[in-house]
Amino acid sequence: MPEVRFLGHSCVTITEGEHKLIIDPFISDNPKAPVKADEIDVNYILLTHGHGDHVGDAIAIAIRTGATVIANFELASLVASEGVVMHPMHIGGGHDFPFGRVKLTIAHHGGGYGPDASRYTGPPVGFLVTIGGKVIYHPGDTGLFLDMKLIGEMNKIDLAFLPIGDNFTMGLDDAVKAVEFLQPKKVIPFHYDTWDLIAENPAKFADRVQGAEVIILKPGESLKL
Ligand code: NI
Ligand code: MN
Repeated sequence: MPEVRFLGHSCVTITEGEHKLIIDPFISDNPKAPVKADEIDVNYILLTHGHGDHVGDAIAIAIRTGATVIANFELASLVASEGVVMHPMHIGGGHDFPFGRVKLTIAHHGGGYGPDASRYTGPPVGFLVTIGGKVIYHPGDTGLFLDMKLIGEMNKIDLAFLPIGDNFTMGLDDAVKAVEFLQPKKVIPFHYDTWDLIAENPAKFADRVQGAEVIILKPGESLKL
């Protein structure tokens, strides 16, 4: 049974036996991170898009651990230019890895790496990760989109992460609608409270969601699926 651990913002680890994944490892510059980047030990690093609060410590972790970076072709090529092992994919494509399957979904957001976000990193993506018989959806940064309904119809989602912090991503109202579209068994809200600009009360989200169990994890807390 896979275990997910929330490391603040949009960073989560997924562990299943010997398989250790991290998504969007924004740790060193995250005021809420419960760990240090050099404590992270993983085989795979999944990146949803090129913004600094998602790529985070990916390159340093990949170089230290030898982990493979999974990302869209443009972002994967960028990290490869820094000497990192990568597996490029793109939206709509899935691939079977030793730990399970990853499929890339659309996301409505931006991309761009570096201090002025000027290095092209292609379109943002979300991930459907199938591991240990469970389906986990990490949408990355995104606004609400109607295709979430299709994602929900075509996948029995055991756990969906959803941004609720507003401003850069969907806020509370749209995240409640996203749960309706995706029909996951469990939902964990994220991408809030990292800074004042995206402050939100996750209990309000939990009060309003129907048909799914909302689990509020503090940075550092985990959940077994
Ligand atoms: Ni972003
Ligand atoms: Mn973000």
